[in-house]
Amino acid sequence: MKLFLFLLFCHGSSSVKHSLKFFFTASSGLPNFPEVVGAALVDDIVVGYCDTDTQRFELKQEWVKTYLEKNPEQLQWYRAACFQNQPNLLKARIRGLKQRFNQTGDVHIFLEISGCEWDETTGEVIGFLQFGYDGEDFMALDLKTKTWITPKSQAVSVKLRWDADKGRIKHIENLLTQVFPEWLKNLVDYGKSSLLKTERPSVSLLQKTPSSLLSCHATGFYPDRAEMFWRKDGEELDEDVEHGEILPNHDGTFQMSVDLNISSVTPEDWGRYECVLHLSGVKEDIVTKLDKAEIRTNGEKPTDRTVLIIVPLVVFIFILIFIAVIGFMAHKKKKATRRPPPSDNDTELSTQLNPET
Ligand SMILES: *[C@@H]1O[C@H](CO)[C@@H](O)[C@H](O)[C@H]1NC(C)=O
Ligand SMILES: *[C@@H]1O[C@H](CO)[C@@H](O)[C@H](O)[C@H]1NC(C)=O
Repeated sequence: MKLFLFLLFCHGSSSVKHSLKFFFTASSGLPNFPEVVGAALVDDIVVGYCDTDTQRFELKQEWVKTYLEKNPEQLQWYRAACFQNQPNLLKARIRGLKQRFNQTGDVHIFLEISGCEWDETTGEVIGFLQFGYDGEDFMALDLKTKTWITPKSQAVSVKLRWDADKGRIKHIENLLTQVFPEWLKNLVDYGKSSLLKTERPSVSLLQKTPSSLLSCHATGFYPDRAEMFWRKDGEELDEDVEHGEILPNHDGTFQMSVDLNISSVTPEDWGRYECVLHLSGVKEDIVTKLDKAEIRTNGEKPTDRTVLIIVPLVVFIFILIFIAVIGFMAHKKKKATRRPPPSDNDTELSTQLNPET
């Protein structure tokens, strides 16, 4: 799970990194949650979503829609992954894992994360494929050693069996390090104007009451690769500072804040403090001086209007993370059949990514 969180939240600051990620979650015993949910993310932006309960297949970005209209074989691949391959395999995996771990009836979640990262500057490509089960790592492919890794003693026999299937590993490797990166490059190329755009935020200083923390709040920035901090006499402050998360706005931009405890700052020292926002892709930092006249107090919070819209988005992202945190791992019955050789128009994501146990 650590690796997963790393992949989700680590953003390179100097190089330009792009990523294509697929999340598939299968659950059992969750009454109001679809049995299988899939999501595709480009540069950590959700571009596609599907679920088996409503048979919904949604593309979230206009440029992705037009891209897929021009690349119908890829659209076909995603649809097949959503509605044919993944649902059957993932549901079977849960059944198999319940047996393996001697579990009955309760709630279980199986998660598959696959994809690649591509560094536009160095050309370096990293592929990844990992499975989680009930919030713990179950199995991951180590592309360096071309073996499977599992922290679960119960899964060692599965790992050994998967390790022996060199053809399948090679097949997955091709998908993760050739096919996906190719798609990613095309997608980024196509969506460049959307993905690489930058939006400068408006920054305000907010304080509820004179004894509250002073919040430096930036909203309306893009992309979500940003750092925000307080500095005094040009030095970044660690103490008396609380960093907030980057949160999405309804319009595709982001907001964040960093709070400073100014209780011990004397009025004559205020001028030595400033709030700094460093936004990826923007050369000059956005600097806001601590100025009493600029502080907005209770009732003027600029976020109020957007909160109603932000909440569902945050909830959605939270669900993804929740799924990730509860989910991780894989498997099932061994089929004797050999897999077909890799081919460019292979639509069987599952049979490639999910070696059967
Ligand atoms: C599963 O349950 C069976 C019978 O209850 C028991 O013999 C076996 O050791 C259990 N296996 C595991 C992995 O707990
Ligand atoms: C600010 O710091 C002071 C002294 O360290 C502390 O007593 C106070 O509770 C802090 N204020 C907030 C809002 O955390």
